[in-house]
Amino acid sequence: MAQHGPLIVPSVLPADAARLGVEVEELCAAGVDRIQWDVMDGVFVPNLTFGPDVIAAARRHSTVGFEAHLMVVAPDELLGRYVDAGCELVIVHAEATTHLHRTLHRIRELGVRSGVALNPATPVSIVENVLDETDLVLAMTVNPGFGGQSYIPAVEAKIGQLRAMVEESGLPIEIEVDGGITDVTIGRAAAAGADVFISGSWLYSYPGGKAAGVQLLRERARVAASPSAVAVDDRVA
Ligand code: DX5
Repeated sequence: MAQHGPLIVPSVLPADAARLGVEVEELCAAGVDRIQWDVMDGVFVPNLTFGPDVIAAARRHSTVGFEAHLMVVAPDELLGRYVDAGCELVIVHAEATTHLHRTLHRIRELGVRSGVALNPATPVSIVENVLDETDLVLAMTVNPGFGGQSYIPAVEAKIGQLRAMVEESGLPIEIEVDGGITDVTIGRAAAAGADVFISGSWLYSYPGGKAAGVQLLRERARVAASPSAVAVDDRVA
């Protein structure tokens, strides 16, 4: 199984763009494990978001690592820009690369960790020959482009296939999910084999605040990933 406990990684997509530095500080104070920047070019996906300069400006406000999820048509052109901006993990879409093995190798040559994202319709077979160049596989649980979409349960079978592939490889590869992750769907994704969870709209709208939301997500994922575990709130006093 996963080499670490569940990681909770917020997407800053729902953040107030006019106060990104403070938003990053608040996420760090809430106890998140990393922060994900959803980079969109308006072509690979209809939305347009963060350039490297924005991320570089936010970097000095963070006590946790940054990851860039490049939802762009030409990721090879941008790799160095987002590494220079302070991203320690760069995720490219398999659907946006002609030479995926070369792209992942290039990311590592830049001194950071590599990740490959798969849209819901993309089979896991596309990564089976690049696992030795990959630190993370992101199984999208929505069709990318916007926050606040509904989780696609059909992706759970793919998460299970990825988990089996990673276990068989013996490599320390993280399996991340992104899109529609809530206090309910996180349990399903964790039970299927995911160990890193992106949450945007649910976490930003959780009535108890971000710290309580992060704690709840982590607990739900922990219990789901190890059925023998007893939820903290279920323990007999
Ligand atoms: C792709 C984006 C979203 C965002 C999280 O569309 O990557 O998945 O990060 O979205 P929600 O709001 O569903 O957590």
